Amino acid sequence: MTSPRTIEILPDIPALVNHAVSLMVARICAAIARKGHCTIALSGGSTPKQLYAALSSQNLPWQQLQVFWGDERYVPPDHVDSNQRMTRLAWLDHVNIPEDCIHPMPTKDADPHQAAAAYETEIRQVFQVPAPHIPQFDIILLGMGDDGHTASLFPFTDALEVQDRIVTVGNRDGQARLTLTLPVINQAATILFIVTGSSKQYALGHVFAEEGDDRRYPARLVRPQGECIWLLDQSLGKGLA
Ligand code: 6PG
Repeated sequence: MTSPRTIEILPDIPALVNHAVSLMVARICAAIARKGHCTIALSGGSTPKQLYAALSSQNLPWQQLQVFWGDERYVPPDHVDSNQRMTRLAWLDHVNIPEDCIHPMPTKDADPHQAAAAYETEIRQVFQVPAPHIPQFDIILLGMGDDGHTASLFPFTDALEVQDRIVTVGNRDGQARLTLTLPVINQAATILFIVTGSSKQYALGHVFAEEGDDRRYPARLVRPQGECIWLLDQSLGKGLA
């Protein structure tokens, strides 16, 4: 049984970022109060950069946060396209978070499939959840591309079909990516989508439609049992009215 999605439309990006910060801080603090730590998987791309910068000014018990990524471009960690690099520059380098709380997706192995398996092992070790059980992240932050992809689950790719692993290799126009798979994404306690830009309106209409092509618009496949919150800016909200 999946939960109904919550859609919140914010007047502009600063308002969306502020609201996302308050939603995340509340859930991070609740998880820490409940079980002593919070596990979060982060999105890449350009939209979350402002959110990460805003999080860097929060005063949280960072040592009780376990930070993972939901996907990563298969490039070195110092590459301009690296999600890890973007996140560290915008946020993690500015807060007192121990390095062993930061779990970047490995991208140095010549074989991305080996890297995906290694990351799955790391997640399972931190969560203490052996296969075939699915670990539950407290928060998974997701974006959506103009084509309706999310994380690195791109339209009509094999990664959409993976059910027996929690990390796999994605493919964007031939460029390898690492990505969490749908089983672990849909296991999350909270999914928080942050989506901005009118260029995504067409895809978003297909993602929210009752009927549609899940393989063409992969964000349709994110149907968690936990809460699923979509934060949209006004440019997207118009199309939904
Ligand atoms: C990535 C992201 C990707 C992103 C969307 C939206 O590595 O690029 O994880 O899934 O969320 O492409 O990106 P923007 O927020 O930059 O539009």
